[in-house]
Amino acid sequence: MSMNRRTFIRQATFTMGSVTMCSWLETANLWAQGGTECTLPSDKATPWTPDERKVLKRFSTAEMGQPGHAAALAKYRDAICKMHALPASDVIGWDKQIAQHCLNCAPTKPDNIHYSQYFLPWHRAFLYSLERILRKLGGDDDLRLMYWNWEQDRTVPAIYSQAKQCLFYQNRGFQGLSTSDVNVQPLLTTATWEEFGGGASGDAGAAFGGPHANVHDAFNGDMSNLQYSPRDPIFYAHHGNVDRLWSSWINAGHKNPDFGQDKVYFYDEDRKFRSILLNDLRDEKKLGYEYSSLMTLPFRVPVKVFPMLLNRAIVQPPDPDTQRQILSEAPPSRTLVIHNIKGLEKLPENANTFGIFADEDPKVGAVAEQEPGFVGRVATVKAGETNLKGPLTAALDIAPKMSSMINKDKKSFRMTVAPIDRKTGKTTAPAIPLEADKVALVQ
Ligand code: C2O
Repeated sequence: MSMNRRTFIRQATFTMGSVTMCSWLETANLWAQGGTECTLPSDKATPWTPDERKVLKRFSTAEMGQPGHAAALAKYRDAICKMHALPASDVIGWDKQIAQHCLNCAPTKPDNIHYSQYFLPWHRAFLYSLERILRKLGGDDDLRLMYWNWEQDRTVPAIYSQAKQCLFYQNRGFQGLSTSDVNVQPLLTTATWEEFGGGASGDAGAAFGGPHANVHDAFNGDMSNLQYSPRDPIFYAHHGNVDRLWSSWINAGHKNPDFGQDKVYFYDEDRKFRSILLNDLRDEKKLGYEYSSLMTLPFRVPVKVFPMLLNRAIVQPPDPDTQRQILSEAPPSRTLVIHNIKGLEKLPENANTFGIFADEDPKVGAVAEQEPGFVGRVATVKAGETNLKGPLTAALDIAPKMSSMINKDKKSFRMTVAPIDRKTGKTTAPAIPLEADKVALVQ
């Protein structure tokens, strides 16, 4: 967020010189100089309240690959092909889907939807309007999107990989995912919407920086860059699963907030510009779909949140009594939520995966996961030429490390952050002391 005006003009000039990029300029008149992938007409929005008659299932990509879904898959592909074939300037065409996202991920945009509570509802509305456009283009009102269940299916789904069909995309370069990349358990245990989904602008939820970012970063191609990622049809299946994570969090027993009058804007299938209240996006059934399965926890949702003190990277329970309470239970899980990690721009510019350590300054070049102090990772996703480093919120499963972090005789631990190279898992620069808005233990 610390881009000054000079950098951003320089960057804009640089960006406009190349063919594919849109400019990151904040002023509306200059947006028009971006390509079709980053400009939209300025239409006045009319309100839209979704209230679908039929609730149908969104199936996983694996399910959609089964013979029983062959007809539905053929229709889905066909509708995507039709969308690709629309003129680049058509507001319901493929380029303008990319534009919706591009305009909202510009690093200079003060209310970038990736670093606030807009993250989940904005993408839900994005998928919903895409779904309605595909329903219309495909002439099939029963058409629904699908989700890539990456927790179970850690490679690019087969139905997206076969060449010469509209779900295929050339510029992918998939690097692979590990089980820890896609571990949703700490996310499902986060207790409040603010921790999980985020808050006002600049207050990030943990849903962004975990598996969501890891899956983007698992690619070398367009998926690894927020600005270009919606060019790849797999983006929508990935975000289907991120949306399913939200549904799963609710299903696990958590509550959505009241979003008041906050809204998002999209073109509907009739090319009308619409506003939708975030409150009207909370229940996916109102949007005409539900997921064929949800992510689940092997235990009931924990309910206790223990706010911790954070002072110069030292974390500790606020008082001895809380410490006793924390230690007196043997909960099924322990999640440390580190809210709005800051200062990551002090780390090398190209770093976007960060290891978090307790009572350790790992050596440069150490394999992070093998370090005794390693407690987890958080990641961001590049956007255009900028690696916007947050703020990021991490939800980490610390159950295995808890006794070395605090115990009867040890009331505090010191946290550090070091950049990690995704491919080698090694740290690439010295660790810095953790700076964040708050830290809580959920168990
Ligand atoms: Cu708007 Cu996964 O990105």
